[in-house]
Amino acid sequence: MADTYTSFVNSPIGGRLAGALGLPQPTELRRYEPDAPLVPGPVLLGGHGSAPLAVKIGAILAIDNIPVLSEAGSHKLGAVVVDLSEVRTPADLETARAILAPGLKALGRHGRVIILGRPPYEGHQDAALGAARRALEGITRSVGKEMRGGGTANLVLVADGADGAIESTIRFLLSGRSAYVSGQVIEVGANGVASAPVPAAWERPLDGKVAVVTGAARGIGAAIAKVMARDGAKVVCVDIPAAGDALAKVANGIGGTALQLDVTAADAGARIVEHCARFGGIDIVVHNAGITRDKLLANTDEDRWASVVDVNLLSILRMNEALLDQAATGGLRDGGHLVLVSSIAGIAGNRGQSNYAASKAGVIGLVRTMSGDAALIERGITVNAVAPGFIETEMTAKIPFATREVGRRLNSMSQGGLPVDVAETIAYFSQDASAAVTGNIVRVCGQSLLGA
Ligand SMILES: NC(=O)c1ccc[n+]([C@@H]2O[C@H](COP(=O)([O-])OP(=O)(O)OC[C@H]3O[C@@H](n4cnc5c(N)ncnc54)[C@H](O)[C@@H]3O)[C@@H](O)[C@H]2O)c1
Repeated sequence: MADTYTSFVNSPIGGRLAGALGLPQPTELRRYEPDAPLVPGPVLLGGHGSAPLAVKIGAILAIDNIPVLSEAGSHKLGAVVVDLSEVRTPADLETARAILAPGLKALGRHGRVIILGRPPYEGHQDAALGAARRALEGITRSVGKEMRGGGTANLVLVADGADGAIESTIRFLLSGRSAYVSGQVIEVGANGVASAPVPAAWERPLDGKVAVVTGAARGIGAAIAKVMARDGAKVVCVDIPAAGDALAKVANGIGGTALQLDVTAADAGARIVEHCARFGGIDIVVHNAGITRDKLLANTDEDRWASVVDVNLLSILRMNEALLDQAATGGLRDGGHLVLVSSIAGIAGNRGQSNYAASKAGVIGLVRTMSGDAALIERGITVNAVAPGFIETEMTAKIPFATREVGRRLNSMSQGGLPVDVAETIAYFSQDASAAVTGNIVRVCGQSLLGA
């Protein structure tokens, strides 16, 4: 469902016309395709000091036979990866410039930039160190805004001791799965996990897993169900009875099961657990169901407020109680993954969406709190969220044309994302290989200009 304008400027005549008129020229993004190489060219790999993470990444690239270069030359690069985990003072940041300046010039279409660092403030009182580490965020977000040709730039902060747990994140960011993820910071190892299991096949990282997806009858939820099934999971598709036909179609299309259920029902969690007992429990829960009831706050009545907060937030808290309490009888198993769906409206706020933004900011609060819960860490359960920006769905197709065009173009990629882009990020969080990835809110927004 690429928008018509993006298709037009990607035709020879459309591209020339848009260039001559100075119009935005969104590039069709490189999305996941089976058998496509992880990255479309050699990788320039460097870093500061002994660059321990670059060593790990070199080993990952070697598995996929991807050529690695230590200096930019005449080759069109597929990616530039810079390990800045050993920067000690802002003066050390010169290494970033020295690698990125020639690297960006040589980067081909659909290229990737990955910068690696350490969480800025943990375990030290060294102001220069905190400053240097935090500076990486500024570099990454700026590079993201300078990227052309459907490229992305992201920062990975690896906690001390978690160097052995970065593979799923590196593979996600290099691949077409992260097409619409740019300018983001992903933390690895906040839960003290030092290494993560490697799947038998990276093409099917969810093989044998049971995933529950709410709001699966259409839009982003249907895309999540399809991507999870493609990656090997058995998917339980949940939606309201009124969406039963569409729900059955999605479930049948992927060999999953359908469960008609209003997530706001008091027994919703118990019914999911009961349904999943036949599979011996759940490995992944994606709380995707959501609604909007937009109005300026001054005109928002109690019903409009309550319905949004109930579907988007309170239902998740209620269902989690049942899902997390019954690991033995069909609930979320130890080592499982909870993924929530926030929104950039929950980060930046949005006119006419105070109820929705409350619920989506609340989702972020829930993720931050639960991911630090010692009992869940002990059980190996990860909790993360995506925060989609402008995604091409039935919901956004209904926005009036002018507003829709603004929402669609106001990001570093000058285009809306597709439901599959959100789904791919959720699938990455859902892998056991992402056991050290928790507490993250990753925006799938093409680096939207709205929000942080
Ligand atoms: N589309 C976007 O641009 C965008 C941006 C940011 C966040 N999101 C979020 O992504 C999620 C999916 O959005 P979408 O665009 O696919 O929306 P959508 O309206 O197309 O789909 C939502 C699905 O949730 C289901 N649902 C609603 N209430 C339910 C309930 N009480 N119980 C069970 N199912 C229920 C609906 O029937 C529908 O199938 C939502 O949480 C939404 O807030 C979407």
